[in-house]
Amino acid sequence: MIKRILLSGSNGQIGSELIEELRKIYGRSNVIGADLREPTPEILENGPYVKLDITNAHELANVIKEYKIDAIINMAAILSAVGEQNPHRAWNVNINGLINILEVSRELGVKRILNPSSIAVFGPTTPKENTPQETVLKPTSMYGITKVTGELLGEYYVRKYNLDVRGLRYPGIISYKTLPGGGTTDYAVAIFFDAIKYKHYKCFLKKDTMLPMMYMPDCLKATIDLFHADFSKLKHFTDFNIAAMSFTPEMLYNEIKKYLPEFTIEYEPDYRQQIADSWPRSIDDSLAREEWGWAPSYDMETMVEDMIKNVKIKVEKCEY
Ligand SMILES: NC(=O)c1ccc[n+]([C@@H]2O[C@H](COP(=O)([O-])OP(=O)(O)OC[C@H]3O[C@@H](n4cnc5c(N)ncnc54)[C@H](O)[C@@H]3O)[C@@H](O)[C@H]2O)c1
Repeated sequence: MIKRILLSGSNGQIGSELIEELRKIYGRSNVIGADLREPTPEILENGPYVKLDITNAHELANVIKEYKIDAIINMAAILSAVGEQNPHRAWNVNINGLINILEVSRELGVKRILNPSSIAVFGPTTPKENTPQETVLKPTSMYGITKVTGELLGEYYVRKYNLDVRGLRYPGIISYKTLPGGGTTDYAVAIFFDAIKYKHYKCFLKKDTMLPMMYMPDCLKATIDLFHADFSKLKHFTDFNIAAMSFTPEMLYNEIKKYLPEFTIEYEPDYRQQIADSWPRSIDDSLAREEWGWAPSYDMETMVEDMIKNVKIKVEKCEY
């Protein structure tokens, strides 16, 4: 039975929402947030939080001992676009940080680790349509290289040390509460804010760039469902494909335009186009469906309807 969870990267796009869901299940005081930032009064008001750099194994061990942590969900990472600007930092956080988590867990008896992966594990030589879970993994971005390595490291600890390590490959995650942290799919969030605020968006990808995406409620459900899955029944561990929807910037633009008829868009592709071109257009998630019952709830239409409603509220309150 898991009682105390450490959520590293808890201030990020996914961590900041996942922490609230986990606290509903495990109790406010049993989910400890951790991130690089000093705690603010608002963060501390919501529950326990520590300032922690996962690349510092000593600090990490102290937190695990002090809070009697028995599971770690690691959302701390450097994402694809930021990672291409600083590849060494991406390696340091995504790999050295992860190996600290795995080693400290092994030494201190942490019972379960969930470390997310990404569709960035795929590369230009991977089949692009309905990409299977088991396929060519030769990414060209440093972020992708760290994500493949992370999956393999996790599996190594499962087989070598019998540690319970799980992971899933998120597609681009769309949400409105916390802005994305520098990924290639960030356009699919920024477009809503600019559509509502300025009635115009300049997109950094070409209009026909099809990518797999997912709305945040499905991302949270997938993460928590895999975290709770019966480990003894899993045949795969750290590399589950999950899918919900795929669309191009133009398809998303046309759907948003139904709500905001004056909305206009222009396309000015930058260095992120090359990253996007190396990723799949759609994903086969049949193993996640079979092994732990994964099924998404949102498609592009229902996601856009909900995003428009919530981003309008945020913009009206001047929260962005
Ligand atoms: N958001 C997406 O679209 C997406 C897609 C695929 C995979 N993922 C994966 O999901 C996970 C969470 O992503 P996210 O979108 O929330 O990222 P994010 O960039 O929004 O948040 C990451 C958080 O980690 C923190 N962090 C960075 N370095 C750290 C360190 N050394 N020690 C402690 N904290 C550190 C950052 O301060 C930030 O708050 C990552 O593993 C990411 O690769 C995300």
